[in-house]
Amino acid sequence: MPPRKIIIDTDPGQDDAVAILLALACPDELEVLGLTCVAGNVPLDLTSKNARIVCELAGRTDVKVFAGCDRPLGRELVTAEHVHGKTGLDGPNLPDPTMPLAEGHAVDFIIEQLREYAPGTITLCPLGPLTNIATALQKAPDIARRVAKIVLMGGGYFEGGNITPTAEFNIYVDPQAADIVFKSGIPIVVMPLDVTHKALVTKPRNDAFRALNTPVGIAVAQMTDFFERFDKEKYGSAGAPLHDPCVTAYLLKPELFTGRHINVEIEVQSELTMGMTVADWWGVTDREPNATFIGDLDADGFFDLLTERLGRL
Ligand code: BDR
Ligand code: CA
Repeated sequence: MPPRKIIIDTDPGQDDAVAILLALACPDELEVLGLTCVAGNVPLDLTSKNARIVCELAGRTDVKVFAGCDRPLGRELVTAEHVHGKTGLDGPNLPDPTMPLAEGHAVDFIIEQLREYAPGTITLCPLGPLTNIATALQKAPDIARRVAKIVLMGGGYFEGGNITPTAEFNIYVDPQAADIVFKSGIPIVVMPLDVTHKALVTKPRNDAFRALNTPVGIAVAQMTDFFERFDKEKYGSAGAPLHDPCVTAYLLKPELFTGRHINVEIEVQSELTMGMTVADWWGVTDREPNATFIGDLDADGFFDLLTERLGRL
């Protein structure tokens, strides 16, 4: 089988970085058409810089990296330096990128690629606020039927939120964009906090990254060393949750994950619960299912996959 074509839409972010590295480590299975950057964890100039740092770390200066939307559709940008540090990629000491950004806007790249390839061949992998994806859908509604699937990190139901009591960061930053995406009719798989909080980098798991003894293994260990302090303090958890790599791991081994095909709506009106993913897990409404909402994973299988694949870089 030819590798699956994917576009990773991202706001790196240490966990975005690991998700990207995992994809780049698997060229037989995943063909990364490009990275499209969005404002999120840090402003756009930094996310589009960090994405290139990650490509260079992987030795993949051939990957196209595009800058996209620098703010949410209808709200002020909220960032997360309190989690990811000032640069968004605090932890390892990585050199500034030498590869340039690709020419053009990320949104136009997404549209062009979807129009160029046969319908149903490109999977979109959003790891940040959904601004670029929603803007592409607004600008070119014809692309909706051409997307094979969207596998995204965002939301939470049983876990509540991580930026407000009810909202997860990616959805909270641009709820209007999320609303457009969840109403698009495109098949969606969601990696909410309910599952990502089970993908914890415990000390033995981080030691395994470090023991790869490669620039990638060491950088990933240093990223999670930095990134874990937020969740350890906030949740008392054993380590950093690798939110975004759940998306890439799902593409490689969906059997590691379980969830339900349910209705998910986005709260876009109430300031109190803005950006909440109202997930009808228990099927108490008649609303049509529009997303597969993942709830659990085989964490050991996930970390075995991640460590083995990162070892290939
Ligand atoms: C999500 O928000 C960001 O901080 C992470 O990169 C992840 O995509 C988790 O809520
Ligand atoms: Ca992210």
